Amino acid sequence: MNSFTGKFWSIVALGLIGSTAFAAGPASPRERISLDAGWRFAKDDPADAAGQLAYTNIQDWVEATGMEFTTNADLAAKKKPEGNPGGGDISYTQSGFDDSQWRLLNLPHDWGIEGPFKQEYPGETGKLPWWGVAWYRKHLEVPASDQGKKIYLAVDGAMAYATVWLNGQFVGGWPYGYASWQVDLTPYLKFGADNVIAIRLDNPTNSSRWYPGGGIYRNVWLVKTEPVHVAHWGTYVTTPEVSPKAATVKIQVKLENDSDTDTSVSVKNEIFELGADGAKGKPIASLTTDGVKIPAHQSQTTEGQITFKNPRLWSIEKPERYVAVTSIEQDGKPVDRYETPFGIRTIQFTADNGFLLNGKRVPLNGVCDHHDLGALGAAVNTRALERQIQILKEMGGNSIRTSHNPPAPELLDLCDRLGMVVMDESFDCWKRGKTKNDYHLLFDDWHEKDWRAELRRDRNHPCVILWSIGNEINEQGNPSKHWIAAELTAIAHEEDPTRPTSAACNNIQAGYNGFQTNVDVFGYNYKPTQYGRVHDANPGLAVYGSETASCISSRGEYFFPVSTNKADGQADFQMSSYDLYAPRWATTPDAEFKGQDEFPYVAGEFVWTGFDYLGEPTPYNSDLSNLINYTDPAEKARAEKELQEIGKIRTPSRSSYFGIIDLAGFKKDRFYIYQARWRPDFRMAHILPHWNWPDRVGQVTPVHVYTSGDSAELFLNGKSLGLKKKGPFEYRLEWNDVAYQPGELKVVAWKNGKKWATDVMKTTGPAAKLTLQADRDKIRTDGQDLSFITVTVADKKGLLVPRSKNHIQFQIEGPGEIVATDNGDATSFESFQAPERNAFNGLALVIVRAKPGQPGTIKLKAQADGLTEAVICIRSW
Ligand code: GAL
Repeated sequence: MNSFTGKFWSIVALGLIGSTAFAAGPASPRERISLDAGWRFAKDDPADAAGQLAYTNIQDWVEATGMEFTTNADLAAKKKPEGNPGGGDISYTQSGFDDSQWRLLNLPHDWGIEGPFKQEYPGETGKLPWWGVAWYRKHLEVPASDQGKKIYLAVDGAMAYATVWLNGQFVGGWPYGYASWQVDLTPYLKFGADNVIAIRLDNPTNSSRWYPGGGIYRNVWLVKTEPVHVAHWGTYVTTPEVSPKAATVKIQVKLENDSDTDTSVSVKNEIFELGADGAKGKPIASLTTDGVKIPAHQSQTTEGQITFKNPRLWSIEKPERYVAVTSIEQDGKPVDRYETPFGIRTIQFTADNGFLLNGKRVPLNGVCDHHDLGALGAAVNTRALERQIQILKEMGGNSIRTSHNPPAPELLDLCDRLGMVVMDESFDCWKRGKTKNDYHLLFDDWHEKDWRAELRRDRNHPCVILWSIGNEINEQGNPSKHWIAAELTAIAHEEDPTRPTSAACNNIQAGYNGFQTNVDVFGYNYKPTQYGRVHDANPGLAVYGSETASCISSRGEYFFPVSTNKADGQADFQMSSYDLYAPRWATTPDAEFKGQDEFPYVAGEFVWTGFDYLGEPTPYNSDLSNLINYTDPAEKARAEKELQEIGKIRTPSRSSYFGIIDLAGFKKDRFYIYQARWRPDFRMAHILPHWNWPDRVGQVTPVHVYTSGDSAELFLNGKSLGLKKKGPFEYRLEWNDVAYQPGELKVVAWKNGKKWATDVMKTTGPAAKLTLQADRDKIRTDGQDLSFITVTVADKKGLLVPRSKNHIQFQIEGPGEIVATDNGDATSFESFQAPERNAFNGLALVIVRAKPGQPGTIKLKAQADGLTEAVICIRSW
């Protein structure tokens, strides 16, 4: 029986002193400055350094550098080598090196997304060139007045094998591309003078099962503190007691004394309400501890508890937050101020009633997502993440699994702010890898540091409800290796006893062979028929679907006849959108819903995936694998023949078909089957397919309807095609014998005997015009904010013309730029940066950014041959 089940977890949340909104004010001796602007970038090693850095062999790399683990000082068993690991002078690290010819850019940066796509590159990782060596250099003035301070470089994520030099001296680094880490620049820093940071990345080929991106793809910060300061990720806020009447908030603060003298400080923790906009509200309570002694070059942890009345609880619907402001005084002088946003809530996983948030059952309506942001690549962007969360929430989504690695810190900040719970995952493999150069090469040396770094960074976020120790780990089936699961769970409990651990298990045996006893909550991938068995065999163990469905479809594509053959593909490398197709290991959404309904104690699911992602274009992942995925030998032979006949030996697909939402962020039909289930009180009905089939007049063209109602009547050109009612374990209504006639399809949905919702699908006229619609028509001039503009190919009346693929060109005027374009077509090799794009089934996307610091009116024009052009204006402020 697992010790966590039935136990009550309560926690409060920190954000990092993270988002700009929480950076300590000017009065604070601590500064956290964005270092994103003005880096020089060069791909590949310089000729003179070639061969001097032996890092391409990953094992040697780990041995050679031996990092200083500033986040894990207590673990820093390895000693940093003297001088430059690899030996010799590496000119790119030297201050005097002339980098003026290198490309100037701002971070976050992903060199892979710039392409070009190439047919010969692996589809599995997006057919984009994300691998290889690259250098980033930046000049940095640190004022003489900072003399005596500690100066750190904090990197939220660099892909991968980052090594850092300052003024030609090796400082440290971190290999795992998804980890956040910091290094201490102080020993080599020149105060009051120019300094040069050089960062080398070395992204091994064959190291990922999806598009990882390449580059310093997350934000980078310069952190300045006094010698006596709060440690990196040094606060930990929990709530040992929570009720509607009162909450006890426990604040642990780890302090470091990097000076040569012993000292004694006072630690004051103040709690304030925190608004959705990040503004501090009403003060709530405060607590001061005096006389905290910290010996020279040592650390000390203090702990205090504050109880206050009528706490505003954090929930998915009302994500109320607080902030703990920790102020340190030494000899009456302020030496640090550190802000920790948090939320107060209880979480509990139960074997018989699923997941409880604040004591109430909340079904986990979750999705798994990879980290790329479609056309923006891996380069993190807060608005792009926020848009994703908003789309998921519109569907009724309430949870995200960060498959299969630590997320960008901004994602967790957003989930805290918007109300979304998170399964925070660590690894896609342990000692036994899945690709030649993946994390298994690092596991022995790095798993503890990576795992502790993730736990410490993320353990104050109220959104985080589960720690995942791994995805489909090969060791699941090998009991002699289950000690690894036990170790990872023990580390998680040590760093954060308030949350359960879990793993995403694809091996049925993991529910019985002992693996299940090494996690607190048990997740099955793609086993909706197994929930009952595993639940019954493991009394007390809470169970959920850690990865579900893996249905595959292309937005706006429908193939006939509609068959239920698994992974029914076609030689145009699209997938039919009837939402009936999944690879052999996977299921339709409906089959998973049935599993959840048959075994209602299951805590919910994380669908593979919310959004399409770059890479892993199953069933067209490689030349032949689409054939392998066919279960029916006749279908397999047919597909093989077709492929040979059209001479396409290699598949052109570069992004996935798994998404409920496509790569551009456009909803596929599947969005509505989830909305129907996840928002039962929201009146909706959705018809598929589109109704433009001039080549199918009189032919059977099945119509499916997703609705939150319980029954519906379908009408074609006013004539009823009958009322259908959802039977037990039925999640869609089907009219499978509709003979196509152009005109109007209308559905009227009913619920509990009352009219509930309607939807209409009309045959359109020919494409006549373009229309433009912005998700936001006012954006900030901070150099980050984006407007996502949907381009529709429409008929005269403004209806989307379903199968249109017109080539569209864009022009922009005013203080804005086109960052990327997309259309959601998994087979498109068009550059994401091009100001032109073919529509895919009637839609395209333009992502516009305001030029930093230049308010004004941005005008975007879209033109296509034979169509009336469209113009839209966006204000930047
Ligand atoms: C799972 C795996 C995911 C993805 C998915 C596609 O087995 O965990 O990473 O590959 O299959 O269906």
